[in-house]
Amino acid sequence: MLSKSDQDLGTPARVADESVTLEVDGREVTVPRGTSLMRAAALADIAIPKLCATDSLEPFGSCRLCLVQIEGRNGYPASCTTPADSGMKVRTRSPMLDKLRRNVMELYLSDHPTDPATCSGNGTCELHAMAAAVGAGPVRYTIGRDHQAASRDDSNPYFSFDPARCIVCSRCVRACEEVQGTFALTIDGRGFDSVISAGQREPFFESECVSCGACVSACPTDALVEKSLVNKGAADRSVVTTCGYCGVGCSFKAEVRGDEVVRMLPNRDGMPNHGHSCVKGRFAWGYATHPDRVRTPLIRERITDEWRVASWDEALGYAARRFREIQAQHGRDSVGGITSSRCTNEEAYLVQKLVRAALGNNNVDTCARVCHSPTGYGLKTAFGTSAGTQDFDTVSSADVIMVIGANPTDGHPVFASIMKRRIRAGAKLIVADPRAIDLVRTPHVEAAFHLQLTPGTNVALINSLAHVVLSEGLADEKFVAERCFPSDYANWKNFILEGRNSPEALESVTGVAAEKVRAAARLYARGPNSVIYYGLGVTEHSQGTTMVLGMANLAMAAGMLGRDGVGVNPLRGQNNVQGSCDVGSFPHELPGYRHISDAAVRAQFGAAWNVELEPEPGLRIPNMFDAALDGSFLGLYIEGEDIAQSDPNTHHVTAALTAMKCVVVQDIFLNETARYAHVFLPGSSFLEKEGTFTNSERRISRVRKVMPPLAGKADWEITCALSNALGYPMEYSDPSEIWDEIARLTPIFAGASYEKLDRLGSLQWPCNEKAPDGTPVMHVGQFVHGMGKFVITEYVPTDERVSTRYPLILTTGRILSQYNVGTQTRRTANSMWHPEDRLEIHPHDAEERGIHDGHWVRVTSRAGEIALRALVTERMATGVVYTTFHHEASATNIVTTENSDWATNCPEYKVTAVQVMPATEPEERRIRHDLSMVALGAGK
Ligand code: SF4
Ligand code: SF4
Ligand code: SF4
Ligand code: FES
Repeated sequence: MLSKSDQDLGTPARVADESVTLEVDGREVTVPRGTSLMRAAALADIAIPKLCATDSLEPFGSCRLCLVQIEGRNGYPASCTTPADSGMKVRTRSPMLDKLRRNVMELYLSDHPTDPATCSGNGTCELHAMAAAVGAGPVRYTIGRDHQAASRDDSNPYFSFDPARCIVCSRCVRACEEVQGTFALTIDGRGFDSVISAGQREPFFESECVSCGACVSACPTDALVEKSLVNKGAADRSVVTTCGYCGVGCSFKAEVRGDEVVRMLPNRDGMPNHGHSCVKGRFAWGYATHPDRVRTPLIRERITDEWRVASWDEALGYAARRFREIQAQHGRDSVGGITSSRCTNEEAYLVQKLVRAALGNNNVDTCARVCHSPTGYGLKTAFGTSAGTQDFDTVSSADVIMVIGANPTDGHPVFASIMKRRIRAGAKLIVADPRAIDLVRTPHVEAAFHLQLTPGTNVALINSLAHVVLSEGLADEKFVAERCFPSDYANWKNFILEGRNSPEALESVTGVAAEKVRAAARLYARGPNSVIYYGLGVTEHSQGTTMVLGMANLAMAAGMLGRDGVGVNPLRGQNNVQGSCDVGSFPHELPGYRHISDAAVRAQFGAAWNVELEPEPGLRIPNMFDAALDGSFLGLYIEGEDIAQSDPNTHHVTAALTAMKCVVVQDIFLNETARYAHVFLPGSSFLEKEGTFTNSERRISRVRKVMPPLAGKADWEITCALSNALGYPMEYSDPSEIWDEIARLTPIFAGASYEKLDRLGSLQWPCNEKAPDGTPVMHVGQFVHGMGKFVITEYVPTDERVSTRYPLILTTGRILSQYNVGTQTRRTANSMWHPEDRLEIHPHDAEERGIHDGHWVRVTSRAGEIALRALVTERMATGVVYTTFHHEASATNIVTTENSDWATNCPEYKVTAVQVMPATEPEERRIRHDLSMVALGAGK
């Protein structure tokens, strides 16, 4: 029996002020006006047969299976397209209706394999279920023309399309349009010749399809079906869990057979995805059982030695002994740890607890250092909380959407689909990005303004936008007067109104025409509801924090905070960036963003952990590297983070790792960092984890174990065992006990428990006495620290200047099919879409240098040199080049510099002055990369 939430009610829910009451088969039901008869019947527990309708899509009315009779009306209207009305008396069953439905079904079956056993969807075909429901008998039509010989399209690595099994219900076409917003599918031809077509009758793989799987989920037959389902057979159980990739944090039902995943289905009730997914979460989970997974602990004396297999006790004892020896010789502060945004809240909490309580210092940091640390600092300063202000659904109430330094269709695809739906419904879009990202112009979406600024000039742009808002009288002075510190506002206002911050004065800096800036500012300020989304194109700059403050200033000045449809929202890169920061991974903060120097907070944690905590903040990741090269930091425990590949200036990082005496890497693969490790502890993928992730909108969701940890121990158990080996006892029997400890010690989580998460599905912190079910929208009525704080945001150009030697600016980003440094996605068929990183360059810059599309180029910066193949494209502005960083052979971070954000040390990945010249030898890149690794690794 399906639970209510699993039931497909046929057509989408409607929201209306008015209700209507009707009778369906004698049962009275009241629904919002606009609700279909089909949905009204379903809500009264009466299932009307259907094929072309599903409640995730607008009704289409093509299959004619859902006919009903309405008292006082002639004919047999389709219940999916007929709205319910007060006083209606509807019949869903009668001999005539049954007969009509059987006839319709017979027609479908005459052009479809009639034996359900031959269906490749392993029992998921709705056509056969409906045939049984309407009591269809044997097909009486003589076999004439049919589609049974049509050939199957297997070009997509994850699903196939078999036209012979297609009933042309158009659910796939509508899913691609309405849910995903890609418009890759059409119905080609007419009548009998109608056929579903990807693009111009292209194979799916070569079409515009982005492989989100929405059409596959929507297909009622097995015409579109997951290959894994066909190959592995039907699941025998399902587990609701959370995607392990990006910060959208989609909810999935993992369908499992034994311990093997059959398919990942987006959870219909899941927040924030509402049943949608992208190619990564839906299909790219095969890495979890890839042969490269390490299944036993490994140790070695020197990093030039071969790895030796060890038992858990031996490896953990060895790591603990070496850490203690280093501390005995070089002092307590000579060791530390790094937590990861790929790990659960519980795992990150334990690592920081191990560092503070077992190692006795605050030398703990997290990979958020290199992505969103300016968000934490900036939003806490302005609003009082280190987090975004809204839930994702708020975009559906926005009139103006400003996307700054983010590329949601690639980086946060499910949120991009929700956003695009809102834009198609009429919201206006402003994109501020050096590159013409897809959102600038994509089917049925076109940005009102693309502010194509020069990399590194974000702060100048935000100041000029604010200048327009203030100078043209568009500020919400009432909001500011009621909600913000008046003297800070007055100071900021004086600063922003200076002529040097006008769009005209800054035009030559940003490269954006003043009139365009003025028009965009007016659009934003007039809203009525305007929301800002931003990404690493904001934070990964030397003025990353300044820009976060600049956006906060703009939103406060325009009164765009504290209600639905507005706000300032970071799009977090990894699944648990928010959570790993929340639970105390930074060297200066205990869980809940409470400063380590606060004696009362220290005393609270000290009492709970039975230790005395150090009051001084510990080392940040870049400081750890510097200290390693100084000889004062020699032991590092790294959980789930590949710093050798993901941190800037690879030469510096690897030299620091080489200088250390004990590096312990806990990961699922022997990654680049493991080249420099002495102990390798095999960790778990998200499918083996039990715990919680917290997404970009502060949503805490359960991660549930789908299969046992391949190496025998969960990551939280490994950290506990290491702590025990260090002599600091950590005893938990289950991750829920770790969560309960976090909640007990952290006010923003006080009301959150696994029991509540299981009951509500998920919840957004703060979750406490005031907000027992969580907080979708923050700062309603007042800011967390009472009053909003305006901060002066002086634009300071980065030290990274172009010169005659390095005349171009390199900026970096992600692509849809790959994820960060590619450790996971490169071990899946996703690499078919992006087998290598390419250097995007404007045709003018390419021509000047004699560079041709697809040819090898050498990219040289002040820090190093790499080789890539060129992609000549007008997406780039002249003077700016771009690449992704998903492939280890590209080693993009060899060229990025050590410049970083003034407040948080977040690296300036987005601005590197480079020269690009043709390269002759395609192998040059790999040879150089390998030589540099050997040279740096040979020291020990
Ligand atoms: S492929 Fe499936 S969803 Fe698309 S029209 Fe055919 S049967 Fe309907
Ligand atoms: S997989 Fe997604 S993008 Fe591709 S055709 Fe289906 S719905 Fe459209
Ligand atoms: S949008 Fe992000 S969280 Fe959702 S399925 Fe894709 S990768 Fe996973
Ligand atoms: S379900 Fe109503 S016409 Fe197909």
